[in-house]
Amino acid sequence: ASSGSSASGSSGSSSGSSSGSSSSHALVFDKDAYSTLTTTITDADGADHEVEYRFYKAITYVAKPVDEKYQSLNVSVPVKIDGTAVDATHAPVLFANSVGGYMPSSVADATGVGGGGTTGAPGGGAPNASASPSASTSPASTSAAGEVASGGNGMVNAQGAMVSLPKLALAAGYVVVEPGARGRTLKNSAGEYYGVAPAAIVDLKAAVRYVRFNEGRIPGNVDRIVSSGTSAGGALSSLLGASGDSPLYDRHLKAIGAADASDAIFATGAWCPITDLEHADGAYEWNWGSNATSSGAKVDQTVSKELQSQFAEYQASLKLRGLGGFGTLTARNYDEYLVKQYLEPSATRYLTALSKADRESYLASNTFITWSGGKAAFSWADFLTHVGARKKAAPSFDAFDLSTGENNLFGLGTTQARHFTAYGAQNDTTGLNSKRVPSDIPDTLRLMNPMPFLVAKPNPHRTKHWWIRLGTNDSDTSHTVSANLAAAAHTLGDDVSHLYYWDEGHGANSDPGDFIEWIAGISG
Ligand code: DHB
Repeated sequence: ASSGSSASGSSGSSSGSSSGSSSSHALVFDKDAYSTLTTTITDADGADHEVEYRFYKAITYVAKPVDEKYQSLNVSVPVKIDGTAVDATHAPVLFANSVGGYMPSSVADATGVGGGGTTGAPGGGAPNASASPSASTSPASTSAAGEVASGGNGMVNAQGAMVSLPKLALAAGYVVVEPGARGRTLKNSAGEYYGVAPAAIVDLKAAVRYVRFNEGRIPGNVDRIVSSGTSAGGALSSLLGASGDSPLYDRHLKAIGAADASDAIFATGAWCPITDLEHADGAYEWNWGSNATSSGAKVDQTVSKELQSQFAEYQASLKLRGLGGFGTLTARNYDEYLVKQYLEPSATRYLTALSKADRESYLASNTFITWSGGKAAFSWADFLTHVGARKKAAPSFDAFDLSTGENNLFGLGTTQARHFTAYGAQNDTTGLNSKRVPSDIPDTLRLMNPMPFLVAKPNPHRTKHWWIRLGTNDSDTSHTVSANLAAAAHTLGDDVSHLYYWDEGHGANSDPGDFIEWIAGISG
């Protein structure tokens, strides 16, 4: 329902003139096939803007689609903002995925930018619910209503309202591309899972290639593509940025008939990225191991401790320098790093923005915070107590009983869920014959993780601009995951903006206006 939007004529001249059988011909963008829509967009400062834009809907972005419902994208091009004509020919391009929970995401039914509607329309999927351990234990099917995250990315601002980056970007005069992508639960009639890893990243890369391939036909500056996404979508956005033009994906891109063009992007925006999955269990226990779950029980402390030592080993191997002049990050100093670099400044920003009365009342009910000289100070242990219940069981990602969304993400063929860590496989409780990780898993993990593109042998074609955000209360993964991503990019000398939102949970986006301005700043 696109209340407030009005279609004023469309000129679909998609003639059947594409001759020849070259796959690229099928990928020529028809710049005349749009409808003109008008919508009112409230910007981050609360001001309303009337935006007239060209909406190009459900364009299949590969020549050999597996499922066009997901492998299609929408393009929105601003024409008039508050009555003034705008020329988006050289505008930055926001490439906003709406993936949640590594589930399928489709934009095919969207009625306008950001899914349609006048205020940030919530996505059809619930990322939290869809990624919960129970979600993958129910039989997956391709068409069950409500399992597709579409038309939004589930982000909320500090007031709990939905945030639509696509809408904010359009109102700022940017071109907006919203790609769909296959996701882990998709199953064909032969019972094969065709959206498991690495399908989603391959699709997003193919969509970027499509935009590049159509330079000059799709308005916007293809050298200023800025990707955004939240949670699993944030992970994929990071991966898109880190892995630009990597030949590792060529075979997969070829198989779906992706356009012959670069898939490197200019900048990455990632909110609460659920990434570095094969190391996330150890990181999770390092961070939340002493916190009880919502039922009040502690997780198996032997398992937790074993995983923590895996994290220590992994963290040491990364050899990352922290931001703010901090030295090499290790499992021993990471708590201090998080507190000093992120958590205390986050609390300070939050408390500074409050009225004196509100600040005093907050401090009175949160006595673990010392407020002095306009700055918040506290210990890591008190911070953990403040956050409270951990969201996930142990191991959080590669569950012994194969019950997580990530187990499904690493499914293959007709197998719905598989182990992807040695520890998970060794401790399998589902009766598998082999206690080893399947032999194809390492290659698949390589395609799903931004970290190897940033450490060891850094990818020269990666994005050099990173916007990373995370709520301090978010225990969907370890706080070290986004901090490591930021530190890896920082260690390479990239431009990194990474902040934590105080007391915000999973999916928060408390400074969307700053992101829109950041894009203008780096694009100039
Ligand atoms: C998401 C959340 C998770 O906890 C997870 O493991 C994967 C994805 C999400 O919200 O996208």
